[in-house]
Amino acid sequence: MSVKTELLSILEANRETDLSGEELAKRLGVSRTAVWKAVKTLKQEGYHIDAANNRGYRLQEATDVLSEEGIRLELLESRQNFPVKVYKIIDSTNVEARRHALEGAPHGLTIIAEEQTNGKGRLGRDFYSPAGTGIYMSILLRPQMDGTDIVLVTTAASVAVCRAVQKVLGAEPQIKWVNDVYLGDKKICGILTEAVSDFEMGKIDTVVVGIGINYRTDVFPDELKDKAGSVADGKNVPRNVLVAAVLNEFWDIYENLTEREFMEEYRRRSNVIGKEVRFLEKNRWWEGKALDIDDDGGLIVECMDENGHPVIRTLHTGEITLRWKSKRD
Ligand code: BTN
Repeated sequence: MSVKTELLSILEANRETDLSGEELAKRLGVSRTAVWKAVKTLKQEGYHIDAANNRGYRLQEATDVLSEEGIRLELLESRQNFPVKVYKIIDSTNVEARRHALEGAPHGLTIIAEEQTNGKGRLGRDFYSPAGTGIYMSILLRPQMDGTDIVLVTTAASVAVCRAVQKVLGAEPQIKWVNDVYLGDKKICGILTEAVSDFEMGKIDTVVVGIGINYRTDVFPDELKDKAGSVADGKNVPRNVLVAAVLNEFWDIYENLTEREFMEEYRRRSNVIGKEVRFLEKNRWWEGKALDIDDDGGLIVECMDENGHPVIRTLHTGEITLRWKSKRD
């Protein structure tokens, strides 16, 4: 570990506390000049560090820079052996995770970025990923399970985000089928899961779960500004804390994913069940009432066929449009 990395771990673990240059030098086994140089580099990277001759160094509470050290501090002991890589800027964390996968990266690698230049959304869309105000992360999985169970990974990720947001920020998010996380009527998080197949073995070899959270983004492009919102809502919690909470919750669910226990919570957090929805299927628009979500994440909708007879459809992929107030309630 470099002096800078070790110093950052100490400062992160002692936010808002003065640490003398002498004490830091002793703990790190280096000179005070080496400490001063490392502080200078950290400041250039965006860390707010007070430095006073008589008091020493202090990492300010307001510092919000994503770092492996800051995330590890909040990760549960049992999750510490998963590798975490943090980038200032990257095209897409999902693409980077796939690149690592091809080079043999292990199960559990998490790629996180401050900014994405080519953030990918579902259905070929872009994901708006400005610098410093969001969380863009991808988890690489080498799943040992059937295809039907793999679809649950996305569902699990949306529940993990909800739990983490609730624990860390005290808000109560909901899930719009299939995996968008909402606060009120604003989308605060989107999830894109991509599978890499091993054609020779005829199985899914790697899955990348990409999670994009609008943390404190306050300016959105025109096409998003009515739909998108930010989760921090003026709160001063560092993003590292939320990243670690999402990972802790995700691994907690993933351990027993196939038992589907978390599906109960997924349904409870749904802002779709009981609502009128609209969707496109096989070139035809359907409208109906969302009745429930099954244990495989399928949305069960009661529609009318062309003769006006009720018909039940279960959606497994795609997108629905939600009417916020149910016509039939
Ligand atoms: C959606 O809402 O359509 C899904 C958005 C998923 C965005 C995340 S950000 C991290 C990861 N990297 C990407 O390029 N996309 C996902």
